Amino acid sequence: MNTQIQLQSPFVLVIFGATGDLAQRKLVPALFHLFMKRLLPEHFFIVGFSRREYSTQDLRDFYSEAIKKYDTGHPFDPALWDQFCGKIYYQPGNFAQNHGYIKLIEMLKQFDTHLNACVPRFFYLATPPDQYADILKFLHETKLSEGCGQGSDKWTKVMIEKPFGRSLADAQALDKKLAQTFKEAQIYRIDHYLGKETVQNILAFRYGNTIFEPVWNSQFIDHVQITIAETLGVETRGNFYEGVGALRDMAQSHLLELMTAIATESPAHYDAEGIRAARAKTIAQINCFQPEEVEDNVVRGQYGSSVILASEARPGSETDSGVVTSFLPRMTNNIKAYREEPNVDPNSNTETFVALKLTLDNTRWRGIPFYLRTGKRLLKKAAEISVVFKAPTLKMFDSRQVAAVANVLTFHLEPNEGITVTLNAKKIGLTTVFEQVPMSFDYNKKEVLANPYERLLLDAMKGEQTLFTRTDEVLASWQLMATITSVWAKTPPQFPNYVVGSWGPKEADELIEKDGRSWLLK
Ligand code: BG6
Repeated sequence: MNTQIQLQSPFVLVIFGATGDLAQRKLVPALFHLFMKRLLPEHFFIVGFSRREYSTQDLRDFYSEAIKKYDTGHPFDPALWDQFCGKIYYQPGNFAQNHGYIKLIEMLKQFDTHLNACVPRFFYLATPPDQYADILKFLHETKLSEGCGQGSDKWTKVMIEKPFGRSLADAQALDKKLAQTFKEAQIYRIDHYLGKETVQNILAFRYGNTIFEPVWNSQFIDHVQITIAETLGVETRGNFYEGVGALRDMAQSHLLELMTAIATESPAHYDAEGIRAARAKTIAQINCFQPEEVEDNVVRGQYGSSVILASEARPGSETDSGVVTSFLPRMTNNIKAYREEPNVDPNSNTETFVALKLTLDNTRWRGIPFYLRTGKRLLKKAAEISVVFKAPTLKMFDSRQVAAVANVLTFHLEPNEGITVTLNAKKIGLTTVFEQVPMSFDYNKKEVLANPYERLLLDAMKGEQTLFTRTDEVLASWQLMATITSVWAKTPPQFPNYVVGSWGPKEADELIEKDGRSWLLK
């Protein structure tokens, strides 16, 4: 999996949903970074396909604005950007009508003619999931999916953003639809968390250091906690987010993949299929809830407005939107409630926060809780996984003098990627008192990390599927969500129940505190 070799084969990447959030914030910057690193081939074409009546120049201008706005913190070379822009084209089209697709065929044929070759085609579905069926239908009917080597499946690949459907039945239907046109080897289901450096490092860290694997089990580990916290709200994504919510947007994919990265067994083979099979097996071993267990193990929340005076927003104070657990002055300045966001139903019951307590049914992890939480408009942008070991039972010192606490191994994904282990060491002095000392490794001190989409796009172009979710993995995760969504559908929530700049509803704290533990990320 060497990602540093420049691709040789030309390609055309068609982005469906080219003017959407994902394309402008993540995909185009990732492609540009690959271009600057000289990892893309000499000849390639990026075609945006969307409903907007744009020209190619309009799309180039649109992306030029977007890269300045969203890709801060990365080196930007204006001359290289101009070269890169010259490779971007636009084809307007309605996803549900064949006209745009026919025009697209003409455009792709011109690329083939220009290079006098069958240029491999990548179709990236970066639209809301409810458009996938239409796009797949027309890719099939117009034979766009076959590429110019008619009838041959080696010329095309399809990349699909999560959420892969909205339910188990939906995901199965989508799989069926995909299978009519593409073989599994052509399908790249994207969960960009798998492209993050630290996530890949979890396996390397566990298996590359003999000191961890022997204690990686229920005998030594007390519990695991995973948090993905965002400060952003849904912003312009109301259309997409309504009816999707945090459970489908983040838990079914990103949170479960992080849990799996910690919990997975060593794969039978260290190849794409071995690693994907190990992931799928782990997800299938997560205990599904009975309906009566949902209330005790899953918490949902939705942010209320922050139209509270900063002076009132003190930790512990109560507002209509819940109890303020923390205070962030910058954010308390008239931030809208979820229900006030554009394209959101003013009575929406879509959750913007979810916390879950999950367990696994296997020898290594039986009885060990995994506490997971994610939410929008929380106190800070942070993502981390903490493996909390059992507290040491010290017999060698006088217990009154000893205060050694549990070791914690933390994988940081945001804001800086890195790893910390907290250890107990004797404090300097004439008594035996412990202090906690962190041992840290910070990636960002070494170099600017790649946007995870760089790795994923490059791997897809090379035909490397390890970091893409396989169908059994996705179906197992939907299976797990099914009871939760059906219980929620029958019991309307009391929303909003948390304020902007907090850590979510108080029930999320209670979820872990009732087990005598607490969230470490605060
Ligand atoms: C996306 C979700 O998959 O991940 C977004 O659809 C979320 O709602 C984003 O904001 C978070 O990704 P990251 O990499 O910024 O943590």
